[in-house]
Amino acid sequence: MIELKRTVRLCIGTSSGAGSTLPPQMTRRSNTFSAWPAMRGLGRYLEIDVTCHGHIETETGYMRNINQIDEAVRDHVLGYLEDLVSGPEDPAGIALGETMRTILRRLEPPLQDTVACLCLRLTPYFSLEIRSDGMNHITVGQQYEFAAAHRLHQTHLADEKNRQLFGKCNNAAGHGHNYRIEVSVRAPIDPAGHVFAVEELDNLVADHVLEKLDHKHLNIDVPEFADRNPSVENIAQVIWSLLEDKLDGLGSIAGAQLEQITVWETAKTACTYRGKQQAGGADN
Ligand code: NI
Repeated sequence: MIELKRTVRLCIGTSSGAGSTLPPQMTRRSNTFSAWPAMRGLGRYLEIDVTCHGHIETETGYMRNINQIDEAVRDHVLGYLEDLVSGPEDPAGIALGETMRTILRRLEPPLQDTVACLCLRLTPYFSLEIRSDGMNHITVGQQYEFAAAHRLHQTHLADEKNRQLFGKCNNAAGHGHNYRIEVSVRAPIDPAGHVFAVEELDNLVADHVLEKLDHKHLNIDVPEFADRNPSVENIAQVIWSLLEDKLDGLGSIAGAQLEQITVWETAKTACTYRGKQQAGGADN
């Protein structure tokens, strides 16, 4: 079994065509950065990651032709989303859980029930994910940022050993990073098709994580790092511990659980922690 992921880019929300030039049916169906349909007026840009599972065909060497995934989204999802955002319902009130289920179900027939996972990115930093083997839950991913100073230093080791281990990251006065984090929460879809309001997650992260870490010297100002080296690995674990027991009851929906924390220390270095199992990275 192998998984193939395709990102399909599309712009919606300007079907009235006001101010537009060519209607979408007259434009070439490419899947470049310009998306298809391309941006017209003040539309919305969306990305849908479709992950299919299956086996590699001997004849082609493909699991699936990616053009089939592009067309499945355009032919079976695009119109549905256009109707949703241009319909009478307040877009802010759209039930996102039910929307994700509907998108996945619409893709199953044209992709022969091979869709394993669907991820909808509503902004570059906010995503919703549903898996075909867990249609009653959504994983919400939201990213945040903070700036902090740290010094990589193990107090139980000699200064020379610290310098050897951590190099310039052992600088006595510390150094800074602009950290980016993604908090991923798996939550049940309620009977009306909603998941929790993401502002509630924003508030929790602001109160319990950003207030504590932003514009701080991690070694000096944050007790959790008093005897713990503030490596990107340990930062991911500490953020997990700060949020782990705060999520149940988000939006009055019981059962929301932290799924993973990813911390980017730089554009090149990131660490993801998932509770008992973790993947690591290194500083710089
Ligand atoms: Ni550093």
